[in-house]
Amino acid sequence: MKVLNFGSLNIDYVYGVDYFVRAGETLKARSREIFPGGKGLNQSIALARAGARVYHAGCIGPEGEMLRALLSKDGVDVSLLRQVDAPQGHTVIQVDRKGQNCILLYGGSNRCVQPSQVDETLAGFGAGDWLVLQNEINLLPQIVDAAYERGMRIALNPSPWEDNLKDVDFGKLTWLLVNEIEACQSADCARPEQAWEALHARWSGLSVLITLGGAGSVAHQVTGNGIFEVRQQAFPAQTVDTTAAGDTFTGYFIAGLAAGMTLPACMRRASMAASISVARPGAAGSIPERDEVEAGLSRL
Ligand code: RIB
Repeated sequence: MKVLNFGSLNIDYVYGVDYFVRAGETLKARSREIFPGGKGLNQSIALARAGARVYHAGCIGPEGEMLRALLSKDGVDVSLLRQVDAPQGHTVIQVDRKGQNCILLYGGSNRCVQPSQVDETLAGFGAGDWLVLQNEINLLPQIVDAAYERGMRIALNPSPWEDNLKDVDFGKLTWLLVNEIEACQSADCARPEQAWEALHARWSGLSVLITLGGAGSVAHQVTGNGIFEVRQQAFPAQTVDTTAAGDTFTGYFIAGLAAGMTLPACMRRASMAASISVARPGAAGSIPERDEVEAGLSRL
């Protein structure tokens, strides 16, 4: 099975701070580093490192060539990437002493997807192939509709959550992958533990994975044989930087599903991969190789 990730690519400008800067305040950063990132790129790298056959589609600006090269080096097919005349999508990320982050996102090139590009990109994919999406590019509703028409399995990580997602037909998705906050936003509920029931009541064919930070993750998979619930603990880690931990989980999780692994196995491997990533700085560079993940699991 092929996996198409129609997603963002960013340059992350990462500043080490004692605490997140407050309104009206000027704060000295302790450090600055520049990393490749973007939820789309991070997830493609995680998919590739997890062993999936991945194609990354989207748009890059003139400064984005190093992002294309990085994907290519990891074995991701970049033939569907378009170059556009727009500033490369980028972020300003603050990382505090506990490794927590906050992110300011500028969409730039990522928001230059043209309507004609959607069908051209999907032309080589069909029934059974996977489409992975996040909410950092434009035209999501159109992409979901077109992929559904082709019989693709669609996994959406609706991050960052914004009003445009109301135009996406969640009934056409196979998997929704959310953190605790996005779970409440997508289900319109107050607590993440209420989210599955609310989402299932509205979209009965939708499988849902909720990551819960240190509390692990929970998945409900809707199949022809019923609904399966699996809970997975988070593995302990010395947290340095949580950026891309969710992307690492997503990439490993979908790669597992695409390879036909069982749901518990997918979640266990994804959880180990995410726990390794938080112990390293940066986004894409923090994503572990499959061997490291297997070694971590074998040490348990
Ligand atoms: O999920 C982490 C990513 O979110 C970062 O790499 C940043 O680019 C933002 O898109």
